[in-house]
Amino acid sequence: MKAVTEGRDRVRRVVCPGSFDPVTNGHLDIIGRAARLHDEVVVVVGANLAKQGLFTVDERLAMLREVTSEFPNVSVDKFTGLLVDFCRAHGVSAIVKGLRAVSDFEYEMEMAQMNYRLAEVETLFMTANPLYSFLRSSLVKEIAKYGGDVSSLVPAAVYERLRVRLAATRAGWPQGSGHS
Ligand code: PNS
Repeated sequence: MKAVTEGRDRVRRVVCPGSFDPVTNGHLDIIGRAARLHDEVVVVVGANLAKQGLFTVDERLAMLREVTSEFPNVSVDKFTGLLVDFCRAHGVSAIVKGLRAVSDFEYEMEMAQMNYRLAEVETLFMTANPLYSFLRSSLVKEIAKYGGDVSSLVPAAVYERLRVRLAATRAGWPQGSGHS
């Protein structure tokens, strides 16, 4: 039987993957909690999905860097191809994901089991803060597009980028509204 302390001298580097289009307060909550539990957290944007997004991968990376700057052990990167290949190439021992509701579970379990099968990379699930269990980027974009108030759902820097982006498309952002 392996000693429970085996491997403890290694850096515990985990990834928080996602499309982050854009990062929400729910993502940030999971990232911050993961940063308290692990030596290093790499937030990685899946660049495969870039084409369908409201924001480019570079914009998403910039927003993530800005909103995670308070966490000294969090870095931000992007990946193409398989997530497990990124993990292998960067010495990542586990994937950390947030689970909001039962509806997330089936999809997430499938990915977790497949990632383990492909490369024996573990997936650790953190339950979402109940404050954010309804929150996802696509809903934020839809609400913002039709002029709803998303200021409590995303970090201030993201709110500002959404405001500018949606004002540019004249999609209904309330005139003169600012972040409060
Ligand atoms: O924010 P999302 O949409 O939940 O992010 C999904 C993401 C990017 C984490 C996932 O689609 C992914 O890992 N894509 C990379 C391709 C890959 O490794 N696919 C196999 C998963 S078993």
